[in-house]
Amino acid sequence: MPGCSSHPATSRRPDDANHTIKSLTQCLRGYRAAGLRVGLVPTMGFLHGGHRALINGSVARCDITVASIFVNSTQFGPNEVLDCYPRALEQDHELCRTAGVSLIFVPDASEIYPPGFQTTVEPGPVAEPLCGAERPGHFRGVATVVTKLFNIVQPDLAFFGQKDFKQCAVIRQMVRDLNLPIEIVTVPTVRKPDGLALSSRNSYLSPVDRQRARCLSQGLLAAQAAYGEGERDSERLIAMARAHMSEVDQLQYLQLVDARALEPVPGLVDRPTALCVAAYVGTTRLIDNVLLDIASNSRADLVLAQHRAAS
Ligand code: PAJ
Repeated sequence: MPGCSSHPATSRRPDDANHTIKSLTQCLRGYRAAGLRVGLVPTMGFLHGGHRALINGSVARCDITVASIFVNSTQFGPNEVLDCYPRALEQDHELCRTAGVSLIFVPDASEIYPPGFQTTVEPGPVAEPLCGAERPGHFRGVATVVTKLFNIVQPDLAFFGQKDFKQCAVIRQMVRDLNLPIEIVTVPTVRKPDGLALSSRNSYLSPVDRQRARCLSQGLLAAQAAYGEGERDSERLIAMARAHMSEVDQLQYLQLVDARALEPVPGLVDRPTALCVAAYVGTTRLIDNVLLDIASNSRADLVLAQHRAAS
């Protein structure tokens, strides 16, 4: 079968990438018939340690891990240039292989959006707070392609990064609303040793901007530490984070939101909350967030500590 050389029950070695839905589903049919648990890690490629953490999560919990690599045109805004999105397919394959991915799915645009395609998935109000206003249509594009990937792969579990906090909320809501039989797993943000969240977009940063970009995580982590020491006043927490962020060129938002409903949390922080930021550093738009929730904080700190120890 084209692009699919492994035998379901006997081998979990990564195949050469599958480029068609047909070749992928042929492989998956065998795995499912053998009763194996399938995990999906959707990505747009140019893979880094954050993507690897998602893959590790899937490999740990599933028998078969499918990683998709597809730069999804429908989630790009009119000012975002699709062709400029960084790509490194060979390195991506290598990372997938070494991380234990069983199947790599790299469809062409025409495979996902064939001529005549017209149906989309429109998220509800959960897509409006934070970056929804600045990126109209973005989450429709994300929800649509993720639904298609869910339908193609039919995974038992799907893995998403906390780094894209809003994306996680939109996907979780969609899975609930549409009764999709998939467990969504959120993986804590992986950071550089200096705190910068790993992101494909970091490759756009000049060396000077790369240094300036550190201030985002420094601000967030300072507020998180203050929360850990008992600070609960939302204005003071935001002011504390903002004090670190004077070096950015444009702060789009710095907001405390309810970790589930994404509504702003004014006054006292009395429930699981996320402190979210979006900012331009030079011409690059970066996003980041931390959870203000004692249980998650210890997990996030652990991940940061592990990452520091590893580098
Ligand atoms: P992409 O930006 O490639 O990210 C793929 C997944 O990796 C997302 O779930 C994202 O949250 C996660 N990720 C990115 N950086 C991370 C980090 N530093 N730590 C942990 N996880 C991280 O997000 C997309 O692609 C697309 O919108 C997609 C879901 C594939 C739909 O097209």
